[in-house]
Amino acid sequence: MSKKRIAPSVLAADFANLQRDVEMINASDADWFHIDIMDGVFVPNISFGMPVLRDIVKHATKTIDVHLMIVDPDRYIQTFADLGSDILTVHYEACTHLHRTLQAIKAAGMKAGVALNPHTNVSLLEDVIQDLDMVCIMSVNPGFGGQSFIENTYDKVSALKAMISRKNASTLIEIDGGVTNKNAKQLVDAGADVLVAGSYVFKSDNPTKTVKDLSALVN
Ligand code: DX5
Ligand code: ZN
Repeated sequence: MSKKRIAPSVLAADFANLQRDVEMINASDADWFHIDIMDGVFVPNISFGMPVLRDIVKHATKTIDVHLMIVDPDRYIQTFADLGSDILTVHYEACTHLHRTLQAIKAAGMKAGVALNPHTNVSLLEDVIQDLDMVCIMSVNPGFGGQSFIENTYDKVSALKAMISRKNASTLIEIDGGVTNKNAKQLVDAGADVLVAGSYVFKSDNPTKTVKDLSALVN
């Protein structure tokens, strides 16, 4: 079995101590940096944009996993490639021509991901699964950190995992929202490969230990 990755979500970091928090993740057992970009239109919140990402990338030594919660993401594919994103995930619900968007992400040199809102059925990816490096299953409604995990996620992960196997695809399954030590194992058992964790990591007393324990729990 390949290693299950832990991707702390920088949204829950202390933005006044961003370099400190980025270096903490560098030195931890975390695998990726999960970066949430929100535009106040696709989701009812605004997070941070390009200048902040540029400074994160300056210090980060691990994979940069960018989750775009924005309308018309095609406008910014090249920008996020230039900033140093390794994986670019767009929302299914924000893309009229998803297949074209995925090709553009890959042509810009990044891995391509699609995120699904809690109400979006995984079966809608049937015709693009082979083009996808990753599917991000939202286990909360996107827009805010610190929300509680939606239990229906387990069934979605199992269904997606079955589709990936059936189609002989190598797509990774990422889970985003409300991930803790209470649901991590069950998610991985259902087929998850990457666990995003924001508040569970950054709001804990010892984030480094929280990442280490979470990683040990699923590996
Ligand atoms: C939610 C974001 C998540 C968020 C996760 O819209 O996409 O990545 O930061 O935060 P927690 O782990 O606190 O639910
Ligand atoms: Zn996210």
